[in-house]
Amino acid sequence: MTARYEGTAFPERFGTWAVIAGGSDGIGGAFAREAASRGLDVALIARRADPLDALARSLEADFGVATRTIQADLTSEDIGPTVAAATDDLDVGLFVYNAGSNPQSGHFLDQPAENALFLVSLSCRAPVVLGHHFGARLRARGRGGLVFMSSMACLSGSGNQATYAATKAFDTTLAEGLWVELAPFGVDVLGVLAGATRTETMMDQRPEAFAEAMDPREVARGALDHLGKGPSWIPGEANRGVARGLWPVPRIGVVNAMTQASADLFDLPFTPAEGVEFDD
Ligand SMILES: NC(=O)c1ccc[n+]([C@@H]2O[C@H](COP(=O)([O-])OP(=O)(O)OC[C@H]3O[C@@H](n4cnc5c(N)ncnc54)[C@H](OP(=O)(O)O)[C@@H]3O)[C@@H](O)[C@H]2O)c1
Repeated sequence: MTARYEGTAFPERFGTWAVIAGGSDGIGGAFAREAASRGLDVALIARRADPLDALARSLEADFGVATRTIQADLTSEDIGPTVAAATDDLDVGLFVYNAGSNPQSGHFLDQPAENALFLVSLSCRAPVVLGHHFGARLRARGRGGLVFMSSMACLSGSGNQATYAATKAFDTTLAEGLWVELAPFGVDVLGVLAGATRTETMMDQRPEAFAEAMDPREVARGALDHLGKGPSWIPGEANRGVARGLWPVPRIGVVNAMTQASADLFDLPFTPAEGVEFDD
């Protein structure tokens, strides 16, 4: 943990409220439980009312926190104003953009372009809209955290999931850039590159393939532990081993160097950000 956080309790850094986009089950549900267990009130966004309400009641009973449920589709055109209206009265200190699983793998041209555009809307447009909204709020108050769920799939282009991998590269790269930009304002940003994880969405699609995958609770716990330390987190030692091979140059040096290059090019100020790598 970087020095400025030593001895600072989690709720002081990231309270009072956490907003979890895609927060009724899977990794998002695990983020909600983990945030509540650390003393944060939790606002949950998802499409289906029943799982939202069930999780909210369980968080209230188990952790004594306040909850709010927001039934909304993150791919809808008006998701920004919808979420803003539902959360403007809350003291938000943590925003997690979680939803983004691929509903259908296969070749790009064997599916309608709408399938790819759906993923762009879910994993690029909505994180931009909501990351901008909550990022501005956190920057104004001078503390807080933004977490973007990405995937090991971001590490390379990939047949059978070309658009999914590309949207996850977008999320990882966005998180790294915002990590540099928001660090001087006391706001921590983290991209989480999960590997195969045993969530409801994936168990519904491929139960045999995901039966031995990582527990979503480990993903969420590790991510919130790493928030404030560096720009990215990779749950699981085996996944970190793969990433070390594919990212042989430490990311923090690369991100700072690219930020400095663009600052020089466009005559903008440059402040390097400090942190630790995902495997330190
Ligand atoms: N599971 C894995 O193996 C794995 C591996 C690498 C990365 N990841 C990443 O981790 C994240 C979470 O994955 P996951 O497996 O837990 O499944 P997910 O389907 O991405 O997330 C499930 C949660 O998001 C909500 N949700 C999904 N689509 C939504 C939409 N359009 N609008 C509002 N809410 C929506 C779901 O509730 P509703 O259905 O009720 O809306 C549920 O609460 C994703 O970004 C995924 O890419 C997962």
